[in-house]
Amino acid sequence: MSNLVFSGIQPSGQLHIGNYLGAIINWLELQEKYPCIFAIVDYHSISVPFNPQEKRQEIKELALDFLALGINPKKSQIIIQSHLPEHLELAWILGTITPLSWLERIPTFKSKKQQHQQYLNLGLLSYPVLMSADILLYKANLVPVGEDQLPHIELTNQIAKRFNQMFGKTFPEIKPILTVQSRIMGLNRPNDKMSKSLGKSNYLALTDLPKTIRQKIKSATTDSDNQIKLDWEKKPGISNLLSIYHLFTKKTIDQICQQYQNKGYAQFKSDLAEIIIEQLSPFQNKRQRLSNKPGYINKIISNGEKKAKKIAQATLREVKQKIGLL
Ligand code: AMP
Ligand code: TRP
Repeated sequence: MSNLVFSGIQPSGQLHIGNYLGAIINWLELQEKYPCIFAIVDYHSISVPFNPQEKRQEIKELALDFLALGINPKKSQIIIQSHLPEHLELAWILGTITPLSWLERIPTFKSKKQQHQQYLNLGLLSYPVLMSADILLYKANLVPVGEDQLPHIELTNQIAKRFNQMFGKTFPEIKPILTVQSRIMGLNRPNDKMSKSLGKSNYLALTDLPKTIRQKIKSATTDSDNQIKLDWEKKPGISNLLSIYHLFTKKTIDQICQQYQNKGYAQFKSDLAEIIIEQLSPFQNKRQRLSNKPGYINKIISNGEKKAKKIAQATLREVKQKIGLL
């Protein structure tokens, strides 16, 4: 069986360093080895409240982010989920073989149920079925994501297995691909993962200006003993910043601790801010250049979608044949 990589991100606000260090870094590595499809999953993003005008803009911005981060259209296909209705067709079919109990115990459903009590719609529950369809539609077997997505990958494998048992072998087994640090914590709440939904001072956006980066890192939550060392239990804030420093510089944690042995948090934070500013600057410059070329970006997407559609249609035909609809 040949390898194919699939991953997706919702267009719902700015990308942050958690998305980058926790998932996208692996996209860039994998595209050097395997064919890849990277999706802007707009249908997923409308399962929570949204503004249509902003949504249109967010989709464009995310396409810009993908390209500026280094997704190479010669190697990878970029698609917009809603342009390929096959995702929804397969999702419906998979939904009919997915027991409700499997969906009700998914952790993201439980937390979204709490968060969106006034907007508790069917989409929130069936969200992971659509995600399974995204992946299985292309028979992708490698899925680079952050740690929070693991329950969804497990569910995808359960659904695929059940389909194969009921209608004959169709789908491969999926392997999640995690980065070395697949859970980046929030700047002002280092016990929870960094997240857009926890407010602007919780995350560092990839498009944040130098001034904002300096200010956010400076005010990131730390303890008060001024000792730089890795101790996730007692020192989650400093441990998170240390691991971000390590991921951006490739210096080992030990090397960094030694370097700052007698220097204290202020110096460490100020150096870290400059490192991040420098590391993000090629992305930010490229993004600026690409933002003047909407025609070029649309062309890349429509080319990607043409190629993806061929695979999607073939899988859907096979599935419909197997279940007696063709
Ligand atoms: P989201 O922004 O929640 O749509 O996530 C897009 C991708 O980034 C998914 O693969 C997530 O697992 C990953 N991701 C989001 N937040 C984090 C985080 N704080 N640490 C690591 N990975 C993350
Ligand atoms: N659920 C993912 C997230 O919130 C986004 C997503 C949708 C996805 N479909 C996917 C990720 C398929 C990987 C593969 O981040």
